[in-house]
Amino acid sequence: MDVLAASLFMSLLLSVKCVYTSSQANQDTNLQTTEPEPEFIGTINNVTYPSGREAILACSVRNLGKYKVGWLRASDQTVLALQGRVVTHNARISVVLEDMHTWKLRIRQLRESDRGCYMCQINTSPMKKQVGCIDVQVPPDIINEESSADLAVQESEDATLTCRATGNPTPRVTWRREDGDMIYIRKPGNRELTKVESYNGTSLHLTRLERKQMGAYLCIASNDVPPAVSKRVSLSVHFAPMVRAPSQLLGAPLGSDVQLECQVEASPAPVSYWLKGGRIPPNGFASVSSGSSESGQPRPEMLLDGPKYGIIEERNGYRGVMRLVVRSFSSSDVGTYHCVSTNSLGRAEGTLRLYEIKLHPGSSTSHDDQMNLIGGLAEAAHGRGNPNSSTTQKYSNRFHSVALLLIVAATSCQLYFR
Ligand SMILES: *[C@@H]1O[C@H](CO)[C@@H](O)[C@H](O)[C@H]1NC(C)=O
Ligand SMILES: *[C@@H]1O[C@H](CO)[C@@H](O)[C@H](O)[C@H]1NC(C)=O
Ligand SMILES: *[C@@H]1O[C@H](CO)[C@@H](O)[C@H](O)[C@H]1NC(C)=O
Repeated sequence: MDVLAASLFMSLLLSVKCVYTSSQANQDTNLQTTEPEPEFIGTINNVTYPSGREAILACSVRNLGKYKVGWLRASDQTVLALQGRVVTHNARISVVLEDMHTWKLRIRQLRESDRGCYMCQINTSPMKKQVGCIDVQVPPDIINEESSADLAVQESEDATLTCRATGNPTPRVTWRREDGDMIYIRKPGNRELTKVESYNGTSLHLTRLERKQMGAYLCIASNDVPPAVSKRVSLSVHFAPMVRAPSQLLGAPLGSDVQLECQVEASPAPVSYWLKGGRIPPNGFASVSSGSSESGQPRPEMLLDGPKYGIIEERNGYRGVMRLVVRSFSSSDVGTYHCVSTNSLGRAEGTLRLYEIKLHPGSSTSHDDQMNLIGGLAEAAHGRGNPNSSTTQKYSNRFHSVALLLIVAATSCQLYFR
């Protein structure tokens, strides 16, 4: 209550100080004309400090005599201190007198609200004053409400990632990919994507998105005041599955394990499975399969992981590999296989054909092997062949149960959409 009363009193005192000091000063000058007038020594330096630290403004006066030095906040003329006495209700503010003539205004634990100018005043008539300003540096902060959250966009649509940051000085915003990869952007007037390591700007505009732009992005806000801050924005690019079978024709000797492989791209993550036999896609390998025994099968069979089939699926981002291992290949395994991948946006399948290779005795050069393979394809198509030929035995032994994959056909891309 004492402090409050004192501050109210001081405010009152200062607000009427002009009247008071002028009359007093007149009286004083009348009485003691020899006493020198107080004057400031130098000027008050403007200062810049990070928030949380302590700011000091120094006001030096000589010949103060009976006058008093006060500190006021310049914006609203609030009196903070008179001589060494703080009259404001702010525990962070103090005034110390140094060297008998320097009044230092100290503000601890600086806040943004302390930013502004402060007036050092001597109650002479007319009143003398000096002003010093405090700039408060504020480390960057990202305003979540005004920044992008994780987003999912269809391929070929546009997306804008935004990160709004506050701070003093105004922070710079830089975008990077979390995984350290390059950012693909379309520069104005350029149709092609350009690779950049980082992008400076509050908003990262990505037009006609491609799947390789999918990923986690970081916006990093920084100014001269540490620490820099960052926000992670995950961008999903959605598209229907695409399936590619690098080897569409696979020949293997009876008894071996055969591995079939399909490469899948899909987002969101697809459900994938293998089918055997059944329907051949309209633009598939129908011509190759003509005459094969299983082309007439009405329904494809869904293959399950077990003793006969090994089913492996690996995924890395939107890319994946489906593998089917057909164990101890027998003539009943000859036929058509489909790798199928579906997600909410569509379905795709790849078709592979598995046939038996007849390996003839005495074939040692790769040229001969290839000839044999072509022969094997023909024989497999007829569903006949003697697995106990000496060469088959030899090869089976040599490769044991390791899959012998022989790629005969070209590795063109097969994409089927629905
Ligand atoms: C301090 O800053 C104020 C306001 O920006 C300016 O008017 C004044 O001249 C500056 N003083 C010094 C010593 O630079
Ligand atoms: C982004 O800003 C930083 C700092 O100003 C600068 O060093 C960098 O070269 C800028 N990068 C780009 C891509 O403009
Ligand atoms: C292959 O040979 C094994 C033993 O050598 C025999 O048991 C099997 O019946 C033969 N199979 C065919 C199809 O000739």
